[in-house]
Amino acid sequence: MRAIRQTEYGTSDVLKLVDIPKPDPGPGEVLVEVKAAGVTMGDWHLMRGEPEIMRLALGRRGPNAAVRGMEVSGVVATVGDGVTRFSVGDEVFGWSTGAFADYAISPEDRLAKKPASISHEEAATSPFGGGTAIQGIRAARIRPGDEVLVIGAGGGVGVFLVQLARLAGARVTGVASAGKLDLVRSLGAVDAVDYRVDDLTRFAGRFAVVFDIAGARPLGLLRRLTRRRGAIVLVGAEGGGRMLGRLGRNLRAALWSPFVSQRFITLTASDDGRDFEQLREHFEAGDLRSPVGVTYALEDAPRALDDLAAGLIPGKAVVIP
Ligand SMILES: NC(=O)c1ccc[n+]([C@@H]2O[C@H](COP(=O)([O-])OP(=O)(O)OC[C@H]3O[C@@H](n4cnc5c(N)ncnc54)[C@H](OP(=O)(O)O)[C@@H]3O)[C@@H](O)[C@H]2O)c1
Repeated sequence: MRAIRQTEYGTSDVLKLVDIPKPDPGPGEVLVEVKAAGVTMGDWHLMRGEPEIMRLALGRRGPNAAVRGMEVSGVVATVGDGVTRFSVGDEVFGWSTGAFADYAISPEDRLAKKPASISHEEAATSPFGGGTAIQGIRAARIRPGDEVLVIGAGGGVGVFLVQLARLAGARVTGVASAGKLDLVRSLGAVDAVDYRVDDLTRFAGRFAVVFDIAGARPLGLLRRLTRRRGAIVLVGAEGGGRMLGRLGRNLRAALWSPFVSQRFITLTASDDGRDFEQLREHFEAGDLRSPVGVTYALEDAPRALDDLAAGLIPGKAVVIP
């Protein structure tokens, strides 16, 4: 089968289209014939091996899991021993190791049945961003009527956070660059502001919950935007040093938290099939949509990651083998 694989960390040049044997699913695993794979900043971080502290867990010289792609939608090709929820031929979506390929392995508990009402492209864009959004909303304990700010509202996590927070009854303000403001409004934000021209301090003290997905705002500013007793959810980790990234900011938030009136929550999302079931229900009810911005052929996956990191994708990018 064809796959986009890397043997060392670096820029997108390290990603090569190669022919490798089709993997066999182990116990509790499923082999999925990939119809579409979402493109995420998680893939970009794995490609770069940054922040470098990640390499202690993921592989010193190159990633132990060599094929990129972690969001998948496709058809079950083979099931491993003990798999009970899926059969050959089922359409599924969820988390995978190595979805930028013709076939990919997923643990059974990280998949859900694909919503019949949406395409594989749409389904493939949702597990990482949608799952993160569900877990962030749960952690923040959003209540109907809450004013919620989403910084980075036009990206892979933001497009789902805006919609799911609105479904939870919140009044959402989205922050994005000018080209993504219409998208953010179309997803249900009551207001969308351009961070390049708008001074966010005009919203001081307004929000019950602030999600920082872009990861670029000082903690003091995030506190200023949030009400007393409100919650500040740190989702994104862009910027910061190559070694630690935004880890320092997250540590400061944890140290600060007991002494300030707001709750700092550092989100570490997990890939849980139960969240994907929740996404499926929303898609089938027609109250959630997956904004596919751009599609790429498998061989163009390196360019897809470059475009994502450059902020050129409104909504989500998808690779189609
Ligand atoms: N904590 C967790 O468990 C978890 C889970 C998933 C993802 N993440 C992290 O969350 C981050 C976002 O992931 P993603 O998939 O949503 O990435 P993405 O698709 O690249 O979206 C990020 C968005 O942030 C916007 N942005 C960039 N700089 C900004 C700024 N200064 N102010 C406001 N918005 C800005 C970009 O929009 P413009 O192009 O308009 O600037 C872009 O749409 C990444 O760091 C990822 O690693 C964390």
